Amino acid sequence: MHSPGYSFRETSRDGNARTGLLVTPHGEVETPTFMPVGTQGSVKTLSPTEVAATGARIVLGNTYHLWIRPGPDIIARAGGLHKFASWPHVMLTDSGGFQAFSLADRRTMTEDGFVFRSHIDGSRLALSPEVAMEVQGKIGADIAMQLDVCPPGMSARPELERACATTTRWARRCLAAKRPDQALFGIVQGGTDVALRKAHAEELAAMPFDGLALGGFSVGEPIERMHEVLGEVAPTLDRARPHYLMGVGTPSDLVRAIGTGVDMFDCVLPTRNARNGQALTQRGRIVIKQARYKEDFTPLDPTCSCPACTGGYTRAYLRHLYLAGEILVLRLITEHNLHLYGRLVREAREAIAAGRYASFARAWLGSDGDEP
Ligand code: GUN
Ligand code: ZN
Repeated sequence: MHSPGYSFRETSRDGNARTGLLVTPHGEVETPTFMPVGTQGSVKTLSPTEVAATGARIVLGNTYHLWIRPGPDIIARAGGLHKFASWPHVMLTDSGGFQAFSLADRRTMTEDGFVFRSHIDGSRLALSPEVAMEVQGKIGADIAMQLDVCPPGMSARPELERACATTTRWARRCLAAKRPDQALFGIVQGGTDVALRKAHAEELAAMPFDGLALGGFSVGEPIERMHEVLGEVAPTLDRARPHYLMGVGTPSDLVRAIGTGVDMFDCVLPTRNARNGQALTQRGRIVIKQARYKEDFTPLDPTCSCPACTGGYTRAYLRHLYLAGEILVLRLITEHNLHLYGRLVREAREAIAAGRYASFARAWLGSDGDEP
């Protein structure tokens, strides 16, 4: 780690999996860790107290969304996003590079960055590496992300090479423009091309980044291909810095990626799927609207200690709330899903420290389908 107030160290290791301790000005984070997504400065449906009760000690905010609304100056005047959102623990902001991918039809790209048409009022917004750092500096998260180019999955080699080269040039510009008291992570691209990924990781590792992220995954490539590439690339990353796999994934994706040496994750899946009535468990997914739960008077997951599973709510009641359009069910399933992710990373840390990660991982690998 190169920024003052930040440090990272590996605390135990089992194969390529490792536990670590990330120290920041807003507290310490044990890794592997999962960051719930708070795009607009709020983890949808939950209070910060409820989010912390799931075990989360770091959340993710989005530069692009907060830049457009309410704007970085309002957040700065509020005393930064920690105060504005009443989140006392660690915060990371993504740079807006991914919105350039997901809003591809609303932006153009040049050497100087992206120009977006605002999805709020259609106005023209230019996001350069310097603007991304200025906005993230005002938002004041503990960890900022560099502006990067995220090409679609399975892009051809020339496009992947161009994305890596531009991301490297923007990496230098972001490092030059960053606030000295904010940590900054570089973002490795290269799609599913292992040689390109390794070369790009080395380029970025030569720069004084506080962490190394793997971007450009889960963007349309087959998920098995992502795991193959991770298995070859993640173990070769500089072990002195945290490794962050961006935008991934299901519980079994996390378990497999942790096995390759990934330390940090974020994903909308547990929160977004909850709002679509999908509860995740180690036995598989529960789609709460299904008729099979109509008279199921058991909790969502009897092995779970979350408020939804210990509060006396049955699957039949949650199904009723969902079909009736009652918002309580969205909160309860969101809490349940984030508790599951919190438990998953906590148990992963315990398994790594005890040298039994492989058997821990096997127990989660069947969790991707629907509950039997
Ligand atoms: N979130 C998920 N993937 C990416 C990526 O490639 N870049 C950025 N900036 N954010 C992401
Ligand atoms: Zn639960």
